Amino acid sequence: HQQTNQPPLALLSAPQLAPARQHACHKGVFGDVAILGGEGLAERGLSMVGAAWLAALAAMHGGAGRVMLALLDAEQHANQAGSAWPEIMLRKPNAQDWSSATVVCGCGGGLAVAPWLPTLLAQAPRLVLDADALNTVAASTDLMQQLAARAARGQATVLTPHPLEAARLLQTDTARIQADRLQAASELAQKFACTVVLKGSGSVIACNALDSKQRTSSLWINPTGNALLATGGTGDVLAGLIASLWAQGLSAQQAAIQGAYRHGQVADQWPAERPFSASALAQHLRTR
Ligand code: APR
Ligand code: MG
Repeated sequence: HQQTNQPPLALLSAPQLAPARQHACHKGVFGDVAILGGEGLAERGLSMVGAAWLAALAAMHGGAGRVMLALLDAEQHANQAGSAWPEIMLRKPNAQDWSSATVVCGCGGGLAVAPWLPTLLAQAPRLVLDADALNTVAASTDLMQQLAARAARGQATVLTPHPLEAARLLQTDTARIQADRLQAASELAQKFACTVVLKGSGSVIACNALDSKQRTSSLWINPTGNALLATGGTGDVLAGLIASLWAQGLSAQQAAIQGAYRHGQVADQWPAERPFSASALAQHLRTR
């Protein structure tokens, strides 16, 4: 890892993950994560609440002190009050949660994330954008400008696009993204002055930051992960894990690097006899 204007490439070594826990600690030390997502499109017989739950589950098992889940599907919100994961606090979307929490927006968000994005982009100090939050931003010049304006205000952002989401943000196609993934991730990080995890086999992490008025950039390839991860919902788990590490005090860049590493490592160490699913992955993240 180097900090120069022309970022060289570095492979990761074993990560540090979350710092060791002091005996005399309490949940306030490990930060809050708030998830905004999970739209239900009743008229189309469709619900995407699972994606938001997966991100919340990953945030919890990643070690965050408290996890709040704001589902955009009001019906599911009411139905799931006594959920299988009572530790996760169900909330109505609430801007007050966003001023102190690390926020994940987009997982299963559908079109319903759109009205919340301007407030989130303006207010959230630490923001992870995934899936439909990325698609919604990509469809609006105004939202793209608002995203790019965050860094100068000291607000940090992590984007977790898969190749199609990255293509939408760069107004190109998936083939071009995949032809030079390092370039694509760097370009996105520069365009929005943020941290980018371009997902897929060999996820690329590109970071662009303003440190004491100097712009620095770095570029990483994640060596962990395998085809077990090619199943619905693992991306939502990654978004929740990155937010969880970030809430616990890692920098945006370190949370993205360590989160991608740990996500893939758990899949690499998966016992052959244990059935794999995104929710099983989320429950085996253990970062400490
Ligand atoms: N090798 C290593 N890692 C892999 C592999 C592979 N072959 N395949 C997938 N992964 C990892 C990716 O790096 C990423 O971390 O699994 C995760 C998949 O994330 P997504 O592509 O976002 O997939 P998913 O979670 O299913 O997304 C669900 O969100 O992005 C929207 O529209 C999308 O409906 C979809 C939903
Ligand atoms: Mg996804």
